[in-house]
Amino acid sequence: MNPTSNPVQKSTPQPPDYAVNWSPSSWQNFEALQQARYPDEAALQAALKKLADLPPLVTSWEILSLREQIAEAQRGARFFLQGGDCAETFDEVCSPLITNRLKVLLQMSLALIHGMQMPVVRIGRFAGQYAKPRSSDDETRDGVTLPSYRGDLVNDIEFNEAARIPDPDRLLKAHAYSAMTMNFVRSLVDGGFADVHHTEYWDLSWVEHSPLAAEFHQITQSLGKSLRFMETLTGRDVGSLRRVDFFTSHEALHLHYEQAQTRQVPRQWGWFNLGTHFPWIGMRTAALDGAHVEYFRGIRNPLGIKVGPGMDRDWLFGLLDRLNPNHEEGRIVLIHRMGEDHIEDKLPPLIRAVQDHGSPILWISDPMHGNTESTGAGIKTRRFRKIMREMELAFDIHRQNGSQLGGVHLELTGENVTECTGGARDLSDDDLKRSYKSTVDPRLNYEQSLEMAMLIVEKHGRDGR
Ligand code: PEP
Ligand code: CO
Repeated sequence: MNPTSNPVQKSTPQPPDYAVNWSPSSWQNFEALQQARYPDEAALQAALKKLADLPPLVTSWEILSLREQIAEAQRGARFFLQGGDCAETFDEVCSPLITNRLKVLLQMSLALIHGMQMPVVRIGRFAGQYAKPRSSDDETRDGVTLPSYRGDLVNDIEFNEAARIPDPDRLLKAHAYSAMTMNFVRSLVDGGFADVHHTEYWDLSWVEHSPLAAEFHQITQSLGKSLRFMETLTGRDVGSLRRVDFFTSHEALHLHYEQAQTRQVPRQWGWFNLGTHFPWIGMRTAALDGAHVEYFRGIRNPLGIKVGPGMDRDWLFGLLDRLNPNHEEGRIVLIHRMGEDHIEDKLPPLIRAVQDHGSPILWISDPMHGNTESTGAGIKTRRFRKIMREMELAFDIHRQNGSQLGGVHLELTGENVTECTGGARDLSDDDLKRSYKSTVDPRLNYEQSLEMAMLIVEKHGRDGR
């Protein structure tokens, strides 16, 4: 997020057949899965009306500049890093959590830039990641059935009736908390956030525990040296270079909320979702004739599409036809999340489908969501080894099939939680009890996230690129 970049963007001409018969509300004529049911329709409409009047959270030129960066990544000239919580909560909108999350993402991106020798697109799953898809509309405990928790955008996780009834005021609160988060991130990024560039300030004690300790020391030392060299050269510290762009993303699940943020802007054609730079669509809501696909086809934001083992060639072709009929660059990011066990079977036919389709695509790997399991004690976790293995396989499978893996999508936090096992410190199932904070999916902690970035660098080096 860099308000000074590209203030005057060239307007490209509108393709004549762009989003025909579409409006921000046309999704309402299609089946909308995963939506909250509000008991008070008038209260919902009042909240949406207010929401539609509030100032936007991002600008069209930021969105278009992200599209340019994604187009570069599609050409292999940038690496894409997307990370953040599975779900944000209102309680966690506070200074240390935001600062630490930003810090780990910046540190990871510096390790990637240095190791891969290319710029990075940085995307945070934050400032709006408040809605979650659920496998069931209701939850029953001890004979009591209440609506499922759908994220802080909709209701409260407490299991009582008052908490679980969808509350439209939460839509306004989510907008306000997103704005606060974004405001703080913008200030940090613009103000220098200086401690990201000296690796001696990074908490790297975990490195000693890694079998790759020597490689990691070499990476951090040479990273530190290069950054200091650049500072000497430019007379400025790297943390304050204005080129540090940061973008936001969330799953655009709650369509009334997304519609209220969908706006037109002066001197640009078409519509933008100004609630986030990069909305993504989950597989559970990606039906070709569903409301989400209808909504997404009309906005000019770049779009993420989650691609799991249930996706087939026809479905993927259909999505590309509907969401990018003009084969525009910088428009589509496919986020595959197959799981270590399925990726070798499931990914190659989809790579071929994309090649046959011929439209520009950025492929990125989400090695988290296909590798979720429960421990013997019933705790949801993910094994670092499996996450890493899926990532390595993703690099290999793309290369072997004449394609390219252009980035990663991780669930992570800047805190030292214990939610995923393994990593350099080799967290065990027993350690999960110590500091398990996620109410949804388990996240990589600070150390595991940095380790992941360094392992990506190491893999990239090993592959000889
Ligand atoms: C997520 O990214 O948090 C998520 C729900 O992913 P998926 O739709 O891939 O399961
Ligand atoms: Co998740």
